[in-house]
Amino acid sequence: MAVELSSKQIVGELDKYIIGQDEAKKAVAIALRNRYRRSRLASDIREEITPKNIIMVGPTGVGKTEIARRLAKLVKAPLVKVEATKFTEVGYVGRDVESIIRDLAEVSVRLVKKERFDEVHEKAEKATYERLITALFAQYKSKCPADMPDTEVREKILDDLKHHRLDNEIVEVEVAEEHNPQPMMQGMGMMEINIGEMLGGILPKRKKKKKIAVIDAEHIFLTEESEKLIDMDNVGAEAVRRVEQDGIVFIDEIDKITGKGGGHGPDVSREGVQRDLLPIVEGSTITTKYGPIRTDFILFIAAGAFHFSKIEDLTPELQGRFPIVVNLNSITYDDFVKILSDTENSLLKQYTELLAVDNIKLSFAKDGIEEIAKIAVLANETNENIGARRLHSIMETLLEDVSFNATGDHPVIDIKVNKEYVDEHLSNICKKFDLSKYIL
Ligand SMILES: Nc1ncnc2c1ncn2[C@@H]1O[C@H](COP(=O)(O)OP(=O)(O)OP(=O)(O)O)[C@@H](O)[C@H]1O
Ligand SMILES: [Mg+2]
Repeated sequence: MAVELSSKQIVGELDKYIIGQDEAKKAVAIALRNRYRRSRLASDIREEITPKNIIMVGPTGVGKTEIARRLAKLVKAPLVKVEATKFTEVGYVGRDVESIIRDLAEVSVRLVKKERFDEVHEKAEKATYERLITALFAQYKSKCPADMPDTEVREKILDDLKHHRLDNEIVEVEVAEEHNPQPMMQGMGMMEINIGEMLGGILPKRKKKKKIAVIDAEHIFLTEESEKLIDMDNVGAEAVRRVEQDGIVFIDEIDKITGKGGGHGPDVSREGVQRDLLPIVEGSTITTKYGPIRTDFILFIAAGAFHFSKIEDLTPELQGRFPIVVNLNSITYDDFVKILSDTENSLLKQYTELLAVDNIKLSFAKDGIEEIAKIAVLANETNENIGARRLHSIMETLLEDVSFNATGDHPVIDIKVNKEYVDEHLSNICKKFDLSKYIL
């Protein structure tokens, strides 16, 4: 694992983005730290220790997905998120759950590739510029004074490229032809085989001349040059290792695949999904195009509201594989205030930055923030409780006027969002949710 954060440090990092939900944060932090601890043990005992998977119980919009996502990002772990209900759909075949692990492998490959690309970026960029200069040379030189030495022309092109002055010029370049991906034998429990990719390894890639914009050529060249500089086989192997040791699978809507509700048909398929998930959660080996992947040490985090069913409605086998159950709380007034003012990625910061581009200087007064929080709570109480997601629609409405009218070609305009501003601009929301009687 890339990072050796203690449980406390992990919680500290999560605190920057997610308000409250301490129980859930603590559980995921411990699970992560246990992985690190496990990695330090002798291999015989290490093989024995499997992750303690977690179920997060809580209503919509309270941070379940966000916690998993931030956690994965923090420790650079590959993460996939699936909706358990997806597997109850018509046409579903039991083996389809294995696609979760294949998707995780793809995520992991992208992650590792990105890291490797970053390492060789400088070299790859240099080679990319060289190729672009060569491609552009003739057409560029024809516009320069006739006596300008070639080296100077090349330097000028380089300077223009670096300053994106040639992005939209058209160049003719040779690019490797894309092999048409043809997934075969899908859903038959076979590996998804890509003929193009299989042959791609054997046959040299066919080159094709194409006229494209410089900016697009730059991207293509950069990828090609980066790939030349890294060991792609090693990427696959490292990606598999990461999935096996650090992978996280987030299964949403786990509460919707319980057999609760009686009757036939769909219930059978829902319990069927639980049965199909079991081997993956318990530990099995899945074939992927990067090689076989053992799922024994992948951390599974399941989530659900459990409004209409209970954890106990899950099959005992599956329950047994999720020994840790944590509850997440509804978002309160205090939470809303903190989500707005104390988080690293807060919507207030986002809008302030966005509008600054168009010469609007937004500032938020304490009583303005409190008013937004109050309206959010009331809207959630009187209508569907959508948790922190409520803030997205409220902020959008609040700033709609400014967002629409700001053009950037005016001097800087100061806008102070205080209680009066909020009440004035959210009067429509208040009417819609019939909140006027509480607010004004
Ligand atoms: N406790 C919180 N602190 C800060 N932001 C939060 C919190 N809870 C939710 N959010 C924000 O609200 C949005 C929705 O949160 P998230 O996706 O985690 O919801 P969820 O609990 O997974 O809901 P669902 O059950 O609908 O999937 C995200 O933008 C997230 O950043
Ligand atoms: Mg979610």
